Amino acid sequence: MTINPVFTDATPVTPRDPEQQFRDDVLAGLAAPQKFLSAKYFYDAAGSDLFEAITRQPEYYPTRTEIGILDDQGAEIAALLPARANLVEFGSGSTAKVRRLLVHRTDLAAYVPVDVSESFLHSEAKALAADFPNLTIAPVAADFTRAFTLPDGLSQDAVAGFFPGSTIGNFEPPQAAQLLAHFGRVLGRGALLIVGVDLVKDKAVLDAAYDDAAGVTSAFNRNLLVRIRQELGADLDPAAFAHRAFFNADASRIEMHLVSRTAQTVTIAGQAVRFAQGETIHTENSYKYTVPSFRRLAAEAGWTPQAVWTDPNALFSIHALSRA
Ligand SMILES: C[S@@+](CC[C@H](N)C(=O)[O-])C[C@H]1O[C@@H](n2cnc3c(N)ncnc32)[C@H](O)[C@@H]1O
Repeated sequence: MTINPVFTDATPVTPRDPEQQFRDDVLAGLAAPQKFLSAKYFYDAAGSDLFEAITRQPEYYPTRTEIGILDDQGAEIAALLPARANLVEFGSGSTAKVRRLLVHRTDLAAYVPVDVSESFLHSEAKALAADFPNLTIAPVAADFTRAFTLPDGLSQDAVAGFFPGSTIGNFEPPQAAQLLAHFGRVLGRGALLIVGVDLVKDKAVLDAAYDDAAGVTSAFNRNLLVRIRQELGADLDPAAFAHRAFFNADASRIEMHLVSRTAQTVTIAGQAVRFAQGETIHTENSYKYTVPSFRRLAAEAGWTPQAVWTDPNALFSIHALSRA
């Protein structure tokens, strides 16, 4: 089954060579007036490991809070999945969260993790298969915003979606709505989508979560520069850039930047890129929603909010959305 791309105007139907795409995206982003890089490029094997390390930092509340909700409410959430559903997880990463649904549902037809980080995807699928020997697991290495193919041989039963980790927050709200609408087309009529969404809260809590004292988020951010140096033969020094992350309350988002410590010119894939001292590369946004603002976004994308669960401190939310 071929999944149509989300951003049809920007995306060819046949996926391009990933290395060429990476080079083109990096050069285009660094040529923009506000330099930027796409957050999806954080996730090579080292980036996936660093992200997992971030989730263990004391300041980083989202992962443990979302897992806490799944531990407390997993049975109720899993009960909403249609009978014998094929469960597709978009941006699956570590399978820690889906396990908390799978334990409640032994009838599922298949679990389909989709992720750009290929080696991590396969190692996680293998570990999951060892723990759930009766579950069909069909990993797909793909960019979920672009055209990709689901494995042949999935049953014709319902398809449900799981999108935890507040990955939705990495998209600008209009693109987030497009992505949710795209997931709706992928999953089909009568689908259910479970989405984890981080909530607006005190700025100090948010700032600390994205700038941990141990410097793991800083290393994660700079890993983009390590990738550019290694994969595109650039002469840039990751240590010449500082990590900066802060909550922009007006835009309701965390912004992550890499700040050039000096005026410098680097060569990337044969092209010179100039940085003024203090100039930044905007590397990630992480939008924070309220329960009503996320429900409005989902409704714009054609989804009907069915249920929502939060932790006792209202730090994080998990939404069940359905589609007529
Ligand atoms: C914030 S992590 C969340 C991982 C996991 N779902 C969780 O909740 O712990 C985001 C995951 O999505 C993947 N990812 C990000 N952008 C993606 C894209 N466009 N297509 C496929 N996977 C993507 C990353 O490789 C990473 O594993």
